[in-house]
Amino acid sequence: MRKFFKAFISIVIALNVIELCDAAPIRLESMPQLKSSQARLISGGRLFAQHCMQCHSLQYFTHDPIGDASGVVPDRMPKIDPEAWSGHPPPDLSLITRYRGTDWLYTYFYSYYQDASRPTGSNHLLTANTSMPNPFEQLQGTHQLMISKDQLSVLEKQPASQKPPWYRILKTMHAGSIPAAEFDTQLTELVLFLEYVGEPHRAAREALGGWVIMFLLIFFVVAFLLYREYWKMLD
Ligand code: HEC
Repeated sequence: MRKFFKAFISIVIALNVIELCDAAPIRLESMPQLKSSQARLISGGRLFAQHCMQCHSLQYFTHDPIGDASGVVPDRMPKIDPEAWSGHPPPDLSLITRYRGTDWLYTYFYSYYQDASRPTGSNHLLTANTSMPNPFEQLQGTHQLMISKDQLSVLEKQPASQKPPWYRILKTMHAGSIPAAEFDTQLTELVLFLEYVGEPHRAAREALGGWVIMFLLIFFVVAFLLYREYWKMLD
């Protein structure tokens, strides 16, 4: 029964992710393959503390050496009022990369464009009409939509393989305060940090996996030798 429920929940999540990507007018960008390290995670954590933590919590992320070093600690996280933000409060981001995937989150911060009709002054390609203001306007600069809103809705209905990447339909209006390549590295570190928050023990689990496989291999050899000895005795 538990297996059935697990399979059912995985299918629902997978369908949700497909649906979320399908409704967008762009395809997702792959996150750069930066190797995660303690220094990178701390730097991503610092970016989170500076730019996200006034609004978002990470409620499943309790005290942890990476969190402590970057200032992402439970008592600094905001208490979220479900009625705030006209009923669309900032969601808890503890499991965001497990729910949406790292490529989605990476592309998310390249999807803002200026839109004077919105109260925040900007709109978003992946989550249209979001109430979240662009947290990286200073660092990243601002973008302008190069096609009309009608053309956007046409793209939404295209099959995923025919959707353009964000940089085909957005153009830089004002450059950010840091070079684009540096912003990209900082953003990747932020996503790596949020991926770490989703599963802090992943590295330990993967390292343990290697040992378990080695144990099973040795056990297999011992069991095989024993098996041969027993059969010799029976012959
Ligand atoms: C000023 C407050 C504020 C700041 C700062 C902020 N956010 Fe948000 N964020 C929101 C609100 C409000 C929403 C919900 C938007 C909605 O539902 O329309 C949101 C939604 C999101 C979502 C969408 C979640 C989903 O599943 O659709 C992500 C991802 C996110 N924020 C990440 C971040 C990250 C990472 C940072 C820091 C770089 C950040 N936010 C900074 C207010 C904020």
